Amino acid sequence: MGLPHEFAEPLGRLADGCPLGARIIWHAQTGSTNADAAALADAGAAEGCVVVADQQTAGRGRLGRSWSSPASSGIYASVLFRPDPRVARMLTIAAGVAVAEAIETVAGIAPVLKWPNDVYLGEGRSGRKVAGILAEAGVSRGQTWVVVGFGINVLPGSFPPELASRATSLESELGRPVDRGELLATCLVRLAARYDDLRGGRTSDVVQAWRQRASSTFGRRVEWDEDGAPKSGVVRNVDDEGGLMVETDAGRARVVSGELRWL
Ligand code: BTN
Repeated sequence: MGLPHEFAEPLGRLADGCPLGARIIWHAQTGSTNADAAALADAGAAEGCVVVADQQTAGRGRLGRSWSSPASSGIYASVLFRPDPRVARMLTIAAGVAVAEAIETVAGIAPVLKWPNDVYLGEGRSGRKVAGILAEAGVSRGQTWVVVGFGINVLPGSFPPELASRATSLESELGRPVDRGELLATCLVRLAARYDDLRGGRTSDVVQAWRQRASSTFGRRVEWDEDGAPKSGVVRNVDDEGGLMVETDAGRARVVSGELRWL
């Protein structure tokens, strides 16, 4: 089935200038666009290929969680990259920046980033998650690939009611409709621009943009799990490889994976 008009028109406008989305695979329903893009990577698909679905039946979240993906309610998309290892490490940070930038451009509200790349509306404990990113990597035929998948809650029905204290949607915050096609197209444009920054050696621009959107995190006390045990400290910075620098009672720690909890 071809792309529905809602997506075809804005994505069609992309074609000339944007290196991402030259090939777009649309599914009215699929298990997971990340799984589809990973299969395409293994089959030799070119960098920039995008998989989009109206609905996912097995949407994947970070840390082995699921991602609620009901029909016509959100954006569920995955982009295939074939980066060099230096760039691959930073793609997850860059994707958070790009999705936040796209939301701000299209919806006119400025999201906040929570390390590494959760996209929130509102700060700290009162913030609610509006978008998430799952980067998954593999190697096939000796070449590294990275699939960057993003899910954006657009309509109020995009997340289950039991998550209402922790999740939100763009339309429930704004009280007006948001054009999913325009938002997806803008995500691809911003993702292409931030990928270009990484490839062009402008990693510090990406990290700086991340820091600005996460400024409320700095100086806050957080908890995270390491080797099965909770650790805590005060967030100081993010380094140029995307690691979070935290000051603990036992000295500086560098957090490279997992999830932060506000204390
Ligand atoms: C998170 O846990 O915050 C990450 C959520 C990522 C969800 C997106 S939706 C499109 C892509 N396909 C998936 O299965 N997951 C990602």
